[in-house]
Amino acid sequence: MCAHPNLVLADHPLAGHLLAGLRDTKTSPERFRVLAKRLATVLVLEATRNLAVRDATVRTPLADAPARLIGTMVVAVPVLRAGLGMLETVTELLPDVQVGYVGLERDETTLQPTSYYLKVPQLAGAAVLLLDPMLATGGSAAFAATLLKQRGAADLQLVCVVAAPEGVRRMADEHPDVRVVTAALDDHLNEVGYIVPGLGDFGDRLFGTF
Ligand code: PRP
Ligand code: URA
Repeated sequence: MCAHPNLVLADHPLAGHLLAGLRDTKTSPERFRVLAKRLATVLVLEATRNLAVRDATVRTPLADAPARLIGTMVVAVPVLRAGLGMLETVTELLPDVQVGYVGLERDETTLQPTSYYLKVPQLAGAAVLLLDPMLATGGSAAFAATLLKQRGAADLQLVCVVAAPEGVRRMADEHPDVRVVTAALDDHLNEVGYIVPGLGDFGDRLFGTF
Protein backbone atom coordinates (compact mmCIF):
# COMPACT_ATOMS: atom_id res chain seq x y z
CA MET A 1 0.00 0.00 0.00
CA CYS A 2 1.43 3.39 -0.87
CA ALA A 3 -0.46 5.96 1.08
CA HIS A 4 0.25 9.53 0.10
CA PRO A 5 -2.02 12.14 1.61
CA ASN A 6 -1.92 14.07 -1.64
CA LEU A 7 -1.94 11.43 -4.38
CA VAL A 8 -4.45 12.19 -7.14
CA LEU A 9 -5.15 9.57 -9.78
CA ALA A 10 -6.52 11.18 -12.93
CA ASP A 11 -8.81 8.31 -13.91
CA HIS A 12 -10.58 10.06 -16.78
CA PRO A 13 -11.32 7.59 -19.62
CA LEU A 14 -9.34 9.77 -22.02
CA ALA A 15 -6.30 9.55 -19.75
CA GLY A 16 -6.47 5.76 -19.82
CA HIS A 17 -6.87 5.75 -23.59
CA LEU A 18 -3.90 8.04 -24.19
CA LEU A 19 -1.74 6.22 -21.66
CA ALA A 20 -2.40 2.93 -23.47
CA GLY A 21 -0.85 4.47 -26.59
CA LEU A 22 2.16 5.72 -24.65
CA ARG A 23 2.70 2.29 -23.13
CA ASP A 24 2.47 0.49 -26.47
CA THR A 25 5.98 -0.47 -27.57
CA LYS A 26 4.92 -0.05 -31.23
CA THR A 27 4.23 3.70 -30.75
CA SER A 28 6.74 5.82 -32.70
CA PRO A 29 8.48 8.85 -31.15
CA GLU A 30 6.40 11.12 -33.39
CA ARG A 31 3.16 9.60 -32.10
CA PHE A 32 4.54 9.39 -28.55
CA ARG A 33 5.07 13.17 -28.50
CA VAL A 34 1.48 13.77 -29.61
CA LEU A 35 0.05 11.40 -27.01
CA ALA A 36 2.25 12.82 -24.23
CA LYS A 37 1.04 16.32 -24.98
CA ARG A 38 -2.61 15.26 -25.02
CA LEU A 39 -2.34 13.29 -21.81
CA ALA A 40 -0.57 16.22 -20.18
CA THR A 41 -3.71 18.26 -20.91
CA VAL A 42 -5.84 15.97 -18.76
CA LEU A 43 -3.23 15.99 -16.00
CA VAL A 44 -2.69 19.74 -16.02
CA LEU A 45 -6.44 20.37 -15.91
CA GLU A 46 -6.55 18.17 -12.81
CA ALA A 47 -3.54 19.87 -11.25
CA THR A 48 -5.00 23.35 -11.81
CA ARG A 49 -8.48 22.48 -10.57
CA ASN A 50 -7.96 24.34 -7.29
CA LEU A 51 -6.03 27.36 -8.53
CA ALA A 52 -6.91 30.60 -6.78
CA VAL A 53 -9.32 32.73 -8.78
CA ARG A 54 -10.35 36.36 -8.60
CA ASP A 55 -13.73 37.85 -9.39
CA ALA A 56 -14.01 40.19 -12.33
CA THR A 57 -16.59 41.56 -14.75
CA VAL A 58 -16.48 41.30 -18.53
CA ARG A 59 -18.66 43.09 -21.02
CA THR A 60 -20.43 40.72 -23.42
CA PRO A 61 -22.18 42.13 -26.54
CA LEU A 62 -25.34 42.20 -24.38
CA ALA A 63 -24.43 43.08 -20.81
CA ASP A 64 -21.89 42.84 -18.05
CA ALA A 65 -21.16 39.28 -16.98
CA PRO A 66 -19.51 38.13 -13.77
CA ALA A 67 -16.25 36.34 -14.46
CA ARG A 68 -13.66 34.36 -12.56
CA LEU A 69 -10.07 34.76 -13.67
CA ILE A 70 -7.00 32.89 -12.56
CA GLY A 71 -5.79 34.84 -9.58
CA THR A 72 -2.29 33.57 -9.02
CA MET A 73 1.03 33.33 -10.83
CA VAL A 74 1.67 29.83 -12.18
CA VAL A 75 5.20 28.59 -12.72
CA ALA A 76 5.89 25.36 -14.64
CA VAL A 77 9.19 23.59 -14.10
CA PRO A 78 9.87 20.65 -16.42
CA VAL A 79 12.57 18.23 -15.32
CA LEU A 80 14.96 17.80 -18.25
CA ARG A 81 14.68 15.93 -20.45
CA ALA A 82 11.44 14.03 -20.18
CA GLY A 83 9.39 16.84 -18.60
CA LEU A 84 9.75 18.81 -21.83
CA GLY A 85 7.12 16.51 -23.32
CA MET A 86 4.54 18.09 -21.03
CA LEU A 87 5.63 21.73 -21.21
CA GLU A 88 3.90 22.86 -24.40
CA THR A 89 0.58 21.79 -22.94
CA VAL A 90 1.08 24.13 -19.99
CA THR A 91 2.17 27.09 -22.10
CA GLU A 92 -0.85 26.60 -24.36
CA LEU A 93 -3.37 26.22 -21.52
CA LEU A 94 -1.84 28.97 -19.39
CA PRO A 95 -0.28 31.58 -21.71
CA ASP A 96 0.78 33.72 -18.75
CA VAL A 97 2.74 30.89 -17.14
CA GLN A 98 6.37 31.46 -16.21
CA VAL A 99 8.76 28.62 -16.95
CA GLY A 100 11.83 27.40 -15.11
CA TYR A 101 13.99 24.35 -15.74
CA VAL A 102 15.61 21.68 -13.61
CA GLY A 103 18.16 19.40 -15.26
CA LEU A 104 18.49 16.07 -13.48
CA GLU A 105 20.13 12.85 -14.48
CA ARG A 106 19.65 9.53 -12.75
CA ASP A 107 22.81 7.46 -12.48
CA GLU A 108 21.99 4.16 -14.18
CA THR A 109 23.75 2.11 -11.51
CA THR A 110 23.13 3.89 -8.24
CA LEU A 111 19.80 5.44 -9.38
CA GLN A 112 20.88 8.61 -7.56
CA PRO A 113 19.94 11.87 -9.30
CA THR A 114 22.42 14.68 -9.86
CA SER A 115 21.52 18.18 -10.88
CA TYR A 116 23.22 19.72 -13.93
CA TYR A 117 20.99 22.77 -14.46
CA LEU A 118 18.65 24.95 -12.46
CA LYS A 119 17.06 28.14 -13.66
CA VAL A 120 13.79 29.22 -12.11
CA PRO A 121 11.86 32.48 -11.78
CA GLN A 122 10.49 33.80 -8.48
CA LEU A 123 8.66 30.87 -6.88
CA ALA A 124 7.43 32.39 -3.62
CA GLY A 125 3.70 33.03 -3.88
CA ALA A 126 3.33 31.09 -7.14
CA ALA A 127 1.49 27.86 -7.85
CA VAL A 128 4.37 25.68 -9.04
CA LEU A 129 3.86 22.70 -11.36
CA LEU A 130 6.82 20.34 -11.41
CA LEU A 131 6.61 18.33 -14.64
CA ASP A 132 8.28 14.91 -14.68
CA PRO A 133 6.43 12.07 -16.37
CA MET A 134 8.06 9.16 -14.53
CA LEU A 135 8.01 8.80 -10.74
CA ALA A 136 10.11 5.67 -10.26
CA THR A 137 12.27 5.52 -7.10
CA GLY A 138 11.15 9.10 -6.48
CA GLY A 139 14.76 10.23 -6.12
CA SER A 140 14.56 12.74 -8.97
CA ALA A 141 11.17 14.21 -8.01
CA ALA A 142 12.09 14.45 -4.31
CA PHE A 143 15.40 16.12 -5.18
CA ALA A 144 13.69 18.54 -7.58
CA ALA A 145 11.05 19.39 -4.97
CA THR A 146 13.78 20.13 -2.43
CA LEU A 147 15.60 22.39 -4.91
CA LEU A 148 12.39 24.29 -5.70
CA LYS A 149 11.50 24.68 -2.03
CA GLN A 150 14.99 26.06 -1.40
CA ARG A 151 14.16 28.64 -4.09
CA GLY A 152 10.94 29.61 -2.32
CA ALA A 153 8.27 27.26 -3.66
CA ALA A 154 5.55 26.74 -1.06
CA ASP A 155 2.66 25.63 -3.27
CA LEU A 156 4.07 22.76 -5.28
CA GLN A 157 2.54 19.91 -7.27
CA LEU A 158 4.20 17.10 -9.16
CA VAL A 159 2.52 16.25 -12.46
CA CYS A 160 3.53 12.84 -13.75
CA VAL A 161 2.29 10.22 -16.18
CA VAL A 162 3.16 6.97 -14.41
CA ALA A 163 4.05 6.52 -10.75
CA ALA A 164 5.53 3.52 -8.97
CA PRO A 165 4.52 2.74 -5.38
CA GLU A 166 8.15 3.26 -4.33
CA GLY A 167 8.20 6.81 -5.69
CA VAL A 168 4.84 7.70 -4.22
CA ARG A 169 6.03 6.46 -0.83
CA ARG A 170 9.21 8.50 -1.07
CA MET A 171 7.29 11.66 -1.92
CA ALA A 172 4.93 10.97 0.98
CA ASP A 173 7.90 10.62 3.34
CA GLU A 174 9.94 13.58 2.12
CA HIS A 175 7.31 15.93 0.71
CA PRO A 176 3.87 15.08 2.13
CA ASP A 177 2.74 18.62 1.25
CA VAL A 178 3.38 18.12 -2.47
CA ARG A 179 0.31 16.94 -4.36
CA VAL A 180 1.17 14.20 -6.85
CA VAL A 181 -1.10 14.06 -9.91
CA THR A 182 -0.64 10.97 -12.06
CA ALA A 183 -2.46 9.02 -14.76
CA ALA A 184 -1.45 5.64 -13.34
CA LEU A 185 -0.11 3.95 -10.26
CA ASP A 186 1.82 0.97 -11.57
CA ASP A 187 2.86 -2.26 -9.93
CA HIS A 188 6.54 -2.13 -9.00
CA LEU A 189 10.08 -1.23 -10.02
CA ASN A 190 12.31 -3.82 -11.65
CA GLU A 191 15.88 -4.55 -10.56
CA VAL A 192 17.27 -1.69 -12.66
CA GLY A 193 14.77 0.90 -11.46
CA TYR A 194 12.28 0.86 -14.33
CA ILE A 195 8.56 1.03 -13.66
CA VAL A 196 6.65 -2.20 -14.43
CA PRO A 197 4.60 -2.34 -16.56
CA GLY A 198 5.46 1.33 -17.17
CA LEU A 199 6.24 2.52 -20.66
CA GLY A 200 10.03 2.22 -20.82
CA ASP A 201 12.36 5.22 -20.85
CA PHE A 202 10.15 8.23 -21.39
CA GLY A 203 13.00 10.53 -22.47
CA ASP A 204 14.31 8.02 -25.00
CA ARG A 205 10.87 7.39 -26.46
CA LEU A 206 10.10 11.11 -26.61
CA PHE A 207 13.34 12.06 -28.31
CA GLY A 208 14.04 8.87 -30.30
CA THR A 209 17.33 8.15 -28.50
CA PHE A 210 17.27 4.37 -28.26
C1 PRP B 1 13.90 9.77 -15.77
C2 PRP B 1 12.57 10.47 -15.54
C3 PRP B 1 12.72 10.99 -14.15
C4 PRP B 1 13.55 9.92 -13.49
C5 PRP B 1 12.66 9.06 -12.63
O1 PRP B 1 14.87 10.68 -16.11
O2 PRP B 1 12.30 11.47 -16.47
O3 PRP B 1 13.35 12.25 -14.07
O4 PRP B 1 14.13 9.13 -14.53
O5 PRP B 1 13.40 8.15 -11.92
P1 PRP B 1 13.50 8.19 -10.34
O6 PRP B 1 12.12 8.42 -9.81
O7 PRP B 1 14.02 6.83 -9.98
O8 PRP B 1 14.46 9.27 -9.95
P2 PRP B 1 16.37 10.24 -16.53
O9 PRP B 1 17.29 10.34 -15.37
O10 PRP B 1 16.32 8.94 -17.26
O11 PRP B 1 16.80 11.42 -17.48
P3 PRP B 1 16.29 11.83 -18.93
O12 PRP B 1 14.92 12.42 -18.77
O13 PRP B 1 17.29 12.85 -19.35
O14 PRP B 1 16.27 10.62 -19.81
N1 URA C 1 12.59 6.74 -15.99
C1 URA C 1 11.89 6.36 -17.09
O1 URA C 1 11.90 7.05 -18.10
N2 URA C 1 11.19 5.22 -17.04
C2 URA C 1 11.15 4.42 -15.95
O2 URA C 1 10.47 3.39 -15.96
C3 URA C 1 11.89 4.82 -14.82
C4 URA C 1 12.58 5.99 -14.86
